[in-house]
Amino acid sequence: MPRLFATAARGTERALRDELKTLGLQSLRVDHGGVHFEGDLAHGMKACLHARCAVRVLWELGGFPVPTPAALYDGVRSLDWSEHLTPSHTLAVRATCRDSTLTHSQFVALKTKDAIVDQLRDRHGQRPDVDVGNPDVPVYVRVSGDRATVYLDLAGEALHRRGWRTRTTDAVMKETLASAVLSLCRWEPWRPLVDPLCGAGTIPIEAALRARNVAPGLDRGFAFERWPRYDDALRARWNELRAEARAAVKGRCEVPIVAADRDPEAVECARLNARQAGVEGDLTLRVGDARDLTWEHLRGHLVTDPPYGDRLRASAQELQGFYQRLGEVVAGLRGSIAAVLVGAPELTRGFPVPVLKAFPLYNGNIPCTLQVYRP
Ligand SMILES: C[S@@+](CC[C@H](N)C(=O)[O-])C[C@H]1O[C@@H](n2cnc3c(N)ncnc32)[C@H](O)[C@@H]1O
Repeated sequence: MPRLFATAARGTERALRDELKTLGLQSLRVDHGGVHFEGDLAHGMKACLHARCAVRVLWELGGFPVPTPAALYDGVRSLDWSEHLTPSHTLAVRATCRDSTLTHSQFVALKTKDAIVDQLRDRHGQRPDVDVGNPDVPVYVRVSGDRATVYLDLAGEALHRRGWRTRTTDAVMKETLASAVLSLCRWEPWRPLVDPLCGAGTIPIEAALRARNVAPGLDRGFAFERWPRYDDALRARWNELRAEARAAVKGRCEVPIVAADRDPEAVECARLNARQAGVEGDLTLRVGDARDLTWEHLRGHLVTDPPYGDRLRASAQELQGFYQRLGEVVAGLRGSIAAVLVGAPELTRGFPVPVLKAFPLYNGNIPCTLQVYRP
């Protein structure tokens, strides 16, 4: 069976594994930075369409030991690239290296590209061009230890780019991370949700899309649609998958979802993003201070990503005061769950409620922890 690898932000691999399992994908194995699974290209297409926490879905072409740069070149050249691209397709190569003698990912990408274009030039007398921004065939090389694995990236543009976030505020999180956070704190679409520090609205919009059962890849294009191997049978399967996903969208969200921020511009930005995502009517958008939050009649989840670390424009004292008050707000949410993405653990040390669960993860390059409370 061909093998695939879906990548995820570090710390969110298990959330991705669970959702791939729900999609019926087989032979799942969690690894550093993602989840391996088995299936054909149509299974990879399904993951692109439905997986909310996946950043990329990669189709494995082969793997080999890479004790030297020459071994990398030879290994890449030993794969049959004619099946995957022609001189009239464009390509780009990305690489990651971990615990390896090959430490420079750009060098690995360059060597790989050379091996591919040399093979095609020898066979066809012409070579494909490189298009870094929007390649037809994005190639991905993962070097781990002294082994390289070569993949094609089905999505091209990373999967967090759903197409709806046209406006951003400072320090937005990726849509895929917002979705993983919702999964890790076990939010279910029948639980009311509030994000009192919503910024551009990423968490509440992802929640509303989930509640409406909108597949995250429904309204965007994918690199695989431009591959030579994307034949009539695959096109028919893709159209079928998309039609099924479109038919499954619910007309409205049944549960209250509140998005608030003290900055009116952020709330406006969240509104416009929600409109673009088709869920503006599913959200209650408010300008307000998180320190004044009361839970009113709602019992549900508070899920939020407060300012911290590098993303902060406040003095240490202001910050301490803010987190002290946030702790009191969280403690007041009896019968609810609160999930707070925290950049520095000392910020929440004074919370008057114990942490129920803590998930270390990365928001971009910033290490942080999702702390879950049940007040
Ligand atoms: C890290 S950003 C949230 C980003 C958001 N998760 C996203 O991806 O779009 C933190 C937000 O908290 C807001 N904020 C800071 N202090 C606040 C307060 N006391 N009450 C409400 N919002 C506040 C800021 O305006 C900012 O939009």
